[in-house]
Amino acid sequence: ALRGHLPLPAAATAEKLSLSTRLRRNRKADWTRRLVREHVLTTDDLIWPLFLIDSQDARTPIASMPGIDRITIDEAVREAELAARLGIPALAPFPYVDPALRDETGSEAENHHNLMCRAVRAIKQAVPEIGLITDAALDPYTSHGHDGVMTDDGRILNDQTVAILCRQSLALAEAGADCIAPSDMMDGRIGAIRQALDAAGFEDTQIMSYAAKYASGFYAPFRDAIGTKTTLIGDKRTYQMDPANTDEALREVELDIAEGADMVMVKPGMPYLDICRRVKDAFGVPTFAYQVSGEYAMIEGAARAGYIDGERAMMESLIGFKRAGCDGILTYFAPRAAKILNGG
Ligand code: PBG
Repeated sequence: ALRGHLPLPAAATAEKLSLSTRLRRNRKADWTRRLVREHVLTTDDLIWPLFLIDSQDARTPIASMPGIDRITIDEAVREAELAARLGIPALAPFPYVDPALRDETGSEAENHHNLMCRAVRAIKQAVPEIGLITDAALDPYTSHGHDGVMTDDGRILNDQTVAILCRQSLALAEAGADCIAPSDMMDGRIGAIRQALDAAGFEDTQIMSYAAKYASGFYAPFRDAIGTKTTLIGDKRTYQMDPANTDEALREVELDIAEGADMVMVKPGMPYLDICRRVKDAFGVPTFAYQVSGEYAMIEGAARAGYIDGERAMMESLIGFKRAGCDGILTYFAPRAAKILNGG
């Protein structure tokens, strides 16, 4: 076995290698791959984010999120029924707020009859067993698209914002939300919201904290979906985290747990799996990741262009979160993944 005139090393010419360990043996057939599989994804791991809108049309497409629509409350009730049938534990609704209702301080967020609160009541009445995890943040409601109150010189005011978030959380809890998910990244908001909920008798309302939320380019399609893409002034780097930081994420999570968070979240997902792993190892609390709009758009866009097998990439991306230690994933793929997990 000579190639040209060069003698090959012994290993390349040998008929057999003498290896006591051949890791491929455990991969030789489906049955053994299933036996040695370390992580599993089930429908119990999925949280389905939805976009709500008050509209004549039941569904309005979102240009940068092919396959995802903004939907009316009636349609959301039908999606909640579908989620329950598929075994998806919870929904995470987000509102596209009529621009006429947006103002400097996001006051519509405190309205007990706003789109979110009406949707929560309707879904809870029709499908009481489904979990509703509702965002607390002002960006859908502010004229400038920021998650908090903005001064004339462009600063986002922390403590004033927290007071509004408390009232927003109370409105959502009163409407029947099971879990409040503050996504604003103001300091001290978890403790303040916990106290506000407890004082109003909502001790059983959970808090899932967007604990380590990064200032990310992967949120762009979401801003398209809730209509803040063109209105957002500047960026969110003074409150969302620097993508270069890791230790700081652990400090954020530690504070949120101390302030009363029941579950914590890392966001975005795929570029931050190292953060998920560190958080899970350090604290051992229920840990979630948000596979955000831009991650969805990347996979779905590449699949629609024929560059990748979308279904395969979707399932691979989701098991990646389990490998990284996540207990669950917020993903726009939730119903599609659930159908596959339920056997097609
Ligand atoms: C804002 C919020 C954002 C997302 C969830 N809540 C966007 C942002 O911070 O600008 C992003 C979700 C996604 O991209 O899918 N409070």
